[in-house]
Amino acid sequence: MTKKNSNQDRSEKELLDSLRPKTLAGFIGQESLKDQLKIFIAAAKQRKEPLEHVLFYGPPGLGKTTLACILACEMATNIKIISGPALSRAGDLASILTNLKEGDILFIDEVHRLNKIVEETLYPAMEDYALDIIVGKGPSARSIRLKLKRFTVVGATTRIGLISSPMRDRFGLVHKLDFYRPENLVEIIINSAKILAININKEGALEIARRSRGTPRIANRLLKRVRDYAQVKGNGRIDQKTAQKALDDLDVDQIGLTGVDRKLLRLIINSYQGGPVGIENLGAGLVEDVGTIVDVYEPYLMKLGFLKRTPRGRIATDRAKKHLKLSGNQERLV
Ligand SMILES: Nc1ncnc2c1ncn2[C@@H]1O[C@H](COP(=O)(O)OP(=O)(O)OP(=O)(O)O)[C@@H](O)[C@H]1O
Ligand SMILES: [Mg+2]
Repeated sequence: MTKKNSNQDRSEKELLDSLRPKTLAGFIGQESLKDQLKIFIAAAKQRKEPLEHVLFYGPPGLGKTTLACILACEMATNIKIISGPALSRAGDLASILTNLKEGDILFIDEVHRLNKIVEETLYPAMEDYALDIIVGKGPSARSIRLKLKRFTVVGATTRIGLISSPMRDRFGLVHKLDFYRPENLVEIIINSAKILAININKEGALEIARRSRGTPRIANRLLKRVRDYAQVKGNGRIDQKTAQKALDDLDVDQIGLTGVDRKLLRLIINSYQGGPVGIENLGAGLVEDVGTIVDVYEPYLMKLGFLKRTPRGRIATDRAKKHLKLSGNQERLV
């Protein structure tokens, strides 16, 4: 990657980071979760104790990382961010844990991808704030217990089904993030437009919201693409028509489906008579990573009622067939 590119990437990342709300009040939508977290935070503050461990799960881009940062902000503590697969040795975890201060938040992203040994080291740390270390080798080896500062694990995962039950049981609060309603996304888009000095009206924001798959990250991304389009092909202002044209050009349809979604549905409908079909076959047919299909594409298709997961495989519903017919897209199969 050239220096210029990496600078661009960084500024893109900074831009997106600037869109992250820093307080619970600034976090739009997910009302029932916010209500629970407010009580959770107030109770911990009253008792002058760290927060209990929290696990957020749900599809990508719905705000899990954002919420972890908000918890740290609301509790006025530090946050240490790590990712499950990057933590390969128990020793790495031990050094992170011993460096945490009272009340600190340890955010573990992709917590379903911790390896077994690291996970087992985490159990007593989460339960008793203790770290068991083996010293010596062979018959003289013994285990010593180190006391840790009281800290909070905030875990995040897109795959709750892959979390082991002992791990899951150690979280005091386990909460699913749902797709956002269009009116919430409109609010998010209008806020982001303010921060990025983008000229947009409510109808323009609603058009982007409808096509954002209920996902704030996608809403912010589409907002920026539509802004570029409005700047180059229009007068810089985003209204409903500009948003519609820009998103049609980007191959994002009226309900947010992209070419990959449509290919996936057509594959099930045309090659497997509507299903059931195994996920591995879908991955091979689409030349897509199975994990990406499961994490990124399927949740929204299931939310729309276009796709069903059954023990025998995936099924495309009549509703999906109707949408594909109405949208009249003539793309052929892979
Ligand atoms: N409720 C919200 N209000 C405003 N903006 C939000 C909200 N939720 C998410 N966002 C925006 O969406 C972006 C993606 O959110 P975030 O990175 O927290 O998602 P995530 O759930 O951690 O995704 P992943 O599973 O991919 O890690 C953030 O940059 C943030 O600006
Ligand atoms: Mg995240």
